[in-house]
Amino acid sequence: MAREVTHEERGPARLDESDTGDDGMIYVCQCGLSGSRPFCDGSHNATTDEADDAVYKYEDDDPDGERREIAEIVYEGE
Ligand code: FES
Repeated sequence: MAREVTHEERGPARLDESDTGDDGMIYVCQCGLSGSRPFCDGSHNATTDEADDAVYKYEDDDPDGERREIAEIVYEGE
């Protein structure tokens, strides 16, 4: 699975100790759908049923928005 997301920032986010969670860890979003990037906010739960061979687009990059399959991933050798 994969998904297309829109990124508008043009530079890095600087993190410090105030960015740690209750457990002292920092959770960085890798799904691209968090509303508080660069941090994970649990939005990745919307992706758990994505097919391995598809690329998705969520309306307005909103995990609760309409999800469309926009492409199929074709792996070499298949
Ligand atoms: S990994 Fe993106 S919201 Fe958790």
